[in-house]
Parts: sequence; structure tokens; C-alpha cells
Amino acid sequence: MDTTSCKYETLALNLQALIENNHFAAGYKLPSIRKLSEQWHYSIDTVQKALNLLEDRGYVQPVAKSGYYVQARNVPVGAVCTQAPDSIVLEPPVNLEVADQIAMLLRSSTREGVAPLGVAFPAHELLPIATLRRSYATVNRTRPDLLTLGSHVEPNQPELVQQLQQRFELMGMKLKRDELVITDGCTEALSLALQSVAKHNDIVAVESPGDYLLLEMIESLGLRALEIPSSPEHGMSLEALEIAVKQTRIAACIVCPTASNPMGSVMPDNNRKKLLELAEKYDFPIVEDNVYADLYFERFRPRPLKAGKQSDRVLMCGSFSKSLSPSLRIGYVAGGKYAAQVLSKKRILSGSTNPITQVAVAHYLEKGSFERHLRTLRQQFETQVRAMGNLVLKHFPQGTRISEPKGGFVLWVELPGDIDTAALFNKAIARKVAYMPGSVFSASGLYKNCIRLNCGHPVTDDTAVAIAKLGALFEGSLVA
Ligand SMILES: Cc1ncc(COP(=O)(O)O)c(C=O)c1O
Repeated sequence: MDTTSCKYETLALNLQALIENNHFAAGYKLPSIRKLSEQWHYSIDTVQKALNLLEDRGYVQPVAKSGYYVQARNVPVGAVCTQAPDSIVLEPPVNLEVADQIAMLLRSSTREGVAPLGVAFPAHELLPIATLRRSYATVNRTRPDLLTLGSHVEPNQPELVQQLQQRFELMGMKLKRDELVITDGCTEALSLALQSVAKHNDIVAVESPGDYLLLEMIESLGLRALEIPSSPEHGMSLEALEIAVKQTRIAACIVCPTASNPMGSVMPDNNRKKLLELAEKYDFPIVEDNVYADLYFERFRPRPLKAGKQSDRVLMCGSFSKSLSPSLRIGYVAGGKYAAQVLSKKRILSGSTNPITQVAVAHYLEKGSFERHLRTLRQQFETQVRAMGNLVLKHFPQGTRISEPKGGFVLWVELPGDIDTAALFNKAIARKVAYMPGSVFSASGLYKNCIRLNCGHPVTDDTAVAIAKLGALFEGSLVA
């Protein structure tokens, strides 16, 4: 086989898929030939041949002394974002430097008087704060022993473990007590899971676009992110994942199968099964991020990966941050065959999660109103997400596309042209509106023309004004 032609054909296919999936939107200037060669580890000659092929196929157009530009294609107004490509789209593993930028974005987004469309927080009036306070009061009154427990002995309070076991059993998972480790939110759960399966410089497959917190974590742990394209419809592309794992050893695949962040996708049952089969075939663990898993919009709860076959290689992580309160900092890992490593890391890194809060959450769960609260919350979030989508389609420039979330409370928005949403962020804050720029959801700076909007708050006239201001800002930058 002529391997040179294989290489440039493969690269052309990958770039073509990025274009079709709008990772590179119409009008976007592709990275220079030298940059593409560095990023994809192909020779300059191979990159040039791939670009020639794409030009022949009508995907790109060379502009003298400037570079290659993505050709315009017809995009229906207000259309929902497209599915992931059938062909393979692999970003080369990269080291990330995003932490400082994200810290700045989070600070600005939560400033007093700024419309809260940036950070993904639910409005506090939607959360059962009064009931939680009563649970705290009861535990304070009845369990003075919790104030004097020794640290680094037992990370788990048995009451909470029991409540979790009961909940998970209803979802088809029979978890042993010692498989669970209570953590400081899902953040620590993911970090412990990663540290239990990966070591410095290892490659971790992530959804693209994917949660920026995870990308920051991967950077800080000295790991490398391999971006696997994901669609608003089906989540992670398993075709792309399979190509990746055939070529590269991955230490883990992290996936948010239910209500992913930022697209709100739900992985279909068949894909869940296939992902587990891939994990078995290519021998890698799956870190299942279930932080939004209680917030599905369909009638029935999607079956967690952990409830499938090969569940031993799934490290299921979750928390009560999106459904009860982000300040509780109560999460968990069900570590499967890695449970002992997770427990050991937890003991070394933080001893235990606050036992008073653990027992307060257990008390709240035991009272039995959680499922009712979740039913109301899911309906409310779905209403808010849909209302936000309508506002965006009304006020944003023509050609804007939105995701159609199947759960959670964030909306992914793709703007037309070559709008750079990170560059416009400060202007939006000056107009007292926040959003998360799309580029932070990629390890390699994709999604520059996208934003994520928080829909965790009831949509009011103020929201409409905020979205209209953003629309005008983006429209203005298109004209400029
Ligand atoms: C996908 C995803 N995973 C994990 C987390 C972290 O959750 P926690 O606040 O429980 O640490 C978040 C928080 O925003 C998230 O969006």
C-alpha cells in the first residue's frame, strides 16, 4: 500500500470531518501548513497534499499570501447543531494551559449585577435549601460525636453509603459498601478516579467539546487530553474513539453519558453497550461522569454505564452539586476494580469529606423527598433550556445554531462567521452579561465561534434583555 497517499488521505478526512462538524466554520482560516504539520505530526508535504485534496473536494479555498479558508456552505437559520461526523476526528494529544484564563472567566461571570449565564449554577430558589438546613440542624443536635471524629481513618459515613447503595440499586447497580468512596464533590471524585488509573504523561480520551474543569484537571495532573468529537445528539463518537484506541494506548476514557456538559447529549443505549465493549476489547477503564445524570428530560432514566456488563472497569463519579446544592461538596466514586486505589488516594490527599455534611445529606435522602424534588427540577430545567433557546434564535445573528439538550441546564450555541467569542467576552461583561466562550471546552482551541449559556435560572424579562444585548454584540462583530 502507498503509505504516503494513505497519510494525506487520512489527514484530509480528519480535516473534512472537522469542517462538516463545524469545528471549523465557514470563513474560518485554517491553521498554517507549518502549524498543521506540528499539530498532526505529518510532514509539510503531506499536509499540502491533504489541503489540495480538500480544495478539489470544495471544502477549502486558498487565498494568496494568507492561507486556506473554509468554504461557505448553506446552513439553515436557527437549525439545531449537527451530529458528530462519521469519519474520524482526532485532535493530537496536547498539554493544556487554560487554568488562568478560566479562573478569570469564572470571577468575571459571577460579579454582582452580571446576568448569570456563564458559570453552570442552578438558581438557589430551585434548590431545597430550607429542607437541607433542617437536616443540618437535626444532625447538629443529635450527632455531637461527628465534631470529634479522628481524621484519615474512615472517609465514609455509613449512613450516606447506605443511602447511596439504595439509590443505585434502584438504578440497576448493586454496589458493595467498600466500592464507594465519598468525596468533596464530583471534582474530587474525577480527580481521584483519574489518579487511580493514569500516571504522568498518559493520554486520556475526552469528549469534544467537553467540560473545561476536566481539561484543567488533566493539565494539572500532567496528563494529556485526546479530544474525541461528540455530537449534541449521541455524545462521544465511538467510531472516532475506536480509531484512536487502535492507534494509541489510552489510560482512560472519560465520558458524561447522561446530559453532557456543554451539549446536554444523552448517549443512546446501544452506544453505551458498544462503549463498554470497546473498553473490554482495548482494555481501558471508563470514568463515568454522572454529575448531571439525575437531570435527564426523557421519561425514563438512562441506564448508567456502571449498570451494564463490564461494570468493574467503570469508575462512576457523581455528586449532589447540580441537584441539591453546589456548596455541599458531597460526591462519590464507585471505583469498580480500582476501588482500593481510589480509597488510598482519598486517604492520602484529603483524609475524609466533612462527616457532618455527609450525615446531613444522608438524613435528607432518608426523609424521602429527593425524587419528588428531582421531578420538579427536571421539568423546570427543561422549560428554562427551551426558553433560552428560543431567545437565542430570536436575538442572535442569522445562521446561529443551538443544541437541543436532553438534560441538564446548559445550552451550546454556535455562531456564524468567524466570531471569536473569547475575544468578545470582556465586552459582554462590560454590558453586564456573562457566557462561557467555546474555546475553553477544547484542549486545542476549537469552538472559537461557540458559547455555552447557563440556563440554571428561571428565564425572565431580564434574561431576554441580556440575550438581546449579547445578540447585538455578536451581530456588531460580524458587521465590523
Ligand atoms: C461535567 C461536570 N463534571 C463535574 C463537575 C464538578 O462537580 P462538583 O461541583 O460536584 O465538584 C461539573 C461542575 O460544573 C461538571 O459540569
